Amino acid sequence: MSFKDLSRNQIRKLLTKESNMILENKVPSYESLEGKFQDIDEFGLYLHIPFCRQICPYCPYNKEIYQPDVAEAYTRAVKKEIDFYSGLFGDKPVTSFYIGGGTPTTMLYSGLDGILEHIYKSFNMQCDIHMESHPDDLSPDDLNTIKSLNVANLSTGVESLQDKYLEILNRPYNSEEVKAAIERAVNKGFRCFNVDFIFALPHQTYNELEQAAHKLVEMGIDQVAAYPLFYFPYTEMGESTKQGNYNILNIFKRRRMLHILEDIFYNDDKYERTSVWAFTKKGIPKYCSVTVPLYVGLGASGSSYLRDIFYVNTFNVAEYIKRLEDGRMPIALALELSENMQMAWWIYWRVYETGFKRSDFRKRFEKDFNDVYGNYIKLFSLFGLVKKDDGNEVILSDKGIFWLHALEDLFSLDYISKLWGTSKQEPWPEKVIL
Ligand SMILES: C[S@@+](CC[C@H](N)C(=O)[O-])C[C@H]1O[C@@H](n2cnc3c(N)ncnc32)[C@H](O)[C@@H]1O
Ligand code: SF4
Repeated sequence: MSFKDLSRNQIRKLLTKESNMILENKVPSYESLEGKFQDIDEFGLYLHIPFCRQICPYCPYNKEIYQPDVAEAYTRAVKKEIDFYSGLFGDKPVTSFYIGGGTPTTMLYSGLDGILEHIYKSFNMQCDIHMESHPDDLSPDDLNTIKSLNVANLSTGVESLQDKYLEILNRPYNSEEVKAAIERAVNKGFRCFNVDFIFALPHQTYNELEQAAHKLVEMGIDQVAAYPLFYFPYTEMGESTKQGNYNILNIFKRRRMLHILEDIFYNDDKYERTSVWAFTKKGIPKYCSVTVPLYVGLGASGSSYLRDIFYVNTFNVAEYIKRLEDGRMPIALALELSENMQMAWWIYWRVYETGFKRSDFRKRFEKDFNDVYGNYIKLFSLFGLVKKDDGNEVILSDKGIFWLHALEDLFSLDYISKLWGTSKQEPWPEKVIL
């Protein structure tokens, strides 16, 4: 066992009291889900569209090449999954809705409208739509279609504004084309328009990053989600590189680069940090994935979290469709969470969001936050990782956001690689040990 695995196991034991976490092929029954939904007041909805027009060499997400006939069958299957949940949801409000992928805009003209119509007919939707798109799907007509679907918050995977890096990432557009797409979307009047951007690219200089960040600000983008390039072992780039995600030089390079981004985005007091990797213009609602703690995921690889259970659908699109055609649920793996695991999960996401309120913890677990995690907060304050602590609200400093999240990545990147890597290879794995 490597030093990395050993430290990961020790930290997990400390936080969750569990020696390992095992997702198993034990599908929850309709009756058990009914019980879980009964005491939930509101929840979020995630819809996965697993299609792309090309497969990017770095991308860990569940996707396959878009084919119109598969998209048609997928539309029918998702509608059946919605029908399954409509009985469970009743009229409880859905307060957060995110459409991710893959590339949701591959289905702009082949089923997305039908799925959305079915969702709005079946559930008590009380929220805006947030949706991901590809820059090649942002023509004036595409943008009109996106608006006609009532998508209020849009994101697109720009990744870089420099041709050299767009080539390394094998993106199918050049810097001029992507800038024109951004300009069209910025002027389209979305509540929040987000651009995904990747930094710490191979051989990227600090100067190049600085130029790109200034350009993003100049273009008037509402929000920039800037991720360092991560290497997932089951992707083309992950397989071909010897660079690890935990290489200490890489970590310090990421920190310095993030520092450059902080300086540029905080300049003139225009943007504020809204998650580990995102900077949002002040006064604009942030673009983000599902915002409420409990959620249901629809589609192939959609995952759901309902307090003491986390479960995930099969990743395989053909199997997902077949299961639903047979009138069965497409759930592949489930993990039951002890209370300690639920609390660790809760704090994981609050760190990602850069802060939290102790009162929210009490509301959720009926326990005093300080009795459980108080000593950690004292330690973090001592190391300058906390910016504000008024006894209720804790806000992390930029230093805290980076280092605590780097620690979280020690778990999340490994868990994603194991769960997603296995699920991509086997439609119905027996179990996955995290
Ligand atoms: C689902 S994609 C975005 C939408 C669309 N499919 C596209 O490519 O434009 C989600 C985003 O995750 C980020 N991402 C994907 N793989 C990554 C990796 N290996 N390291 C860092 N960020 C990554 C990229 O910024 C990407 O735009
Ligand atoms: S980065 Fe986007 S377009 Fe590329 S494979 Fe991933 S989801 Fe598809």
